[in-house]
Amino acid sequence: MPATLAKLTYQALQKGKGAFSLAHKEISLRLLKAMAPDAVVKTLPLDSGAVQALRGAMDALLERDWQDGEDGIYPTELLFSGPWKDWAVRYPLLWLDSPATWNRLRRRDFHDLPTTINRQHYPTYYLRNFHNQTDGYLSDRSAALYDLQVEILFNGAADPMRRRLLRPLKQALPRSGTGGDPSRPRRILDLATGTGRTMHQLRAAFPRIQLVGCDLSEAYLRQAGRWLAERPGELPQLVQANVEAVPFVDRWFDAVTCVFLLHELPRSARANCMKEAFRLLKPGGVLAVLDSVQPKDSPQFKVLLDNFRRVYHEPFYGDYTADSIENHLDRAGFELLLGETHFLSRLWLARKPS
Ligand SMILES: C[S@@+](CC[C@H](N)C(=O)[O-])C[C@H]1O[C@@H](n2cnc3c(N)ncnc32)[C@H](O)[C@@H]1O
Repeated sequence: MPATLAKLTYQALQKGKGAFSLAHKEISLRLLKAMAPDAVVKTLPLDSGAVQALRGAMDALLERDWQDGEDGIYPTELLFSGPWKDWAVRYPLLWLDSPATWNRLRRRDFHDLPTTINRQHYPTYYLRNFHNQTDGYLSDRSAALYDLQVEILFNGAADPMRRRLLRPLKQALPRSGTGGDPSRPRRILDLATGTGRTMHQLRAAFPRIQLVGCDLSEAYLRQAGRWLAERPGELPQLVQANVEAVPFVDRWFDAVTCVFLLHELPRSARANCMKEAFRLLKPGGVLAVLDSVQPKDSPQFKVLLDNFRRVYHEPFYGDYTADSIENHLDRAGFELLLGETHFLSRLWLARKPS
């Protein structure tokens, strides 16, 4: 397909996802108001400046996403990839799940988890219905719906935001054999890999690097394994583990990535996660963290971030928005290389000194 036509197709796809997501959110809110008015959480209105800033930031994100593909940071096919058939089949399940969510919201019950789980396997902060999700992160049903929910939440921009770590990572990743055995394969660890969307982007951008993903949720790892196996490329190793204590020896990885996790951790776990990344990296290795923007880098979105915290169950988000990720990185021993904002995400790139 000629490049201009491909770019127009990409833009149309993204606009379509955006319009679909906005429509979904509007209908959901109306239904919630009609069916469970006592569950509606009061939010603050966005002023026209914030709405305009959001549109501008989204356009800039998509332009950058296209450009990085054109520049060969990743194959442009990645821009069109998604488990489309699964999403189409699963979309009605989102609606079928709504009454259960409304009931939990009415009861203000955010600890409604499957009775079959062994609670001792998880830290207490994890045992809750993040984003009001049925079963929290702890069932196949939740894993089946998670990606769709995130796509809708970010108006179709979740993967374009995840991909923002690929260019800086490619530029900063130590070359094969740097400071060690030249025959040793390079390795990237994705912390809190969830259903594998970041892993999917990493595998396309770094086809010859060994990938490992870890997450506490068995169900999410199962979903990640299924989706990754359906597409060409080596199947990454998937490990069930807490990001605060990952079962690999020191200095095993050349790079560590961590996407949309830190805002879901209490501050001490956030600090532990950064220290663990440091331990796992070889000297000269890089850490790429991508998470929500914070009011200090995106003051124009302050109301939006506040609404997010109110509407979705995100008990550590308020603390995250006031926390200094730079300080965590510094205390863990990292040297900060880069901090960038892309739409609603912030990227930090840091290196473990050689
Ligand atoms: C918001 S999701 C992000 C998933 C994925 N990185 C993405 O981009 O979609 C948060 C993920 O972090 C995992 N998680 C939360 N706390 C964790 C912990 N302490 N150790 C390992 N995984 C954790 C959850 O199971 C979930 O899959």
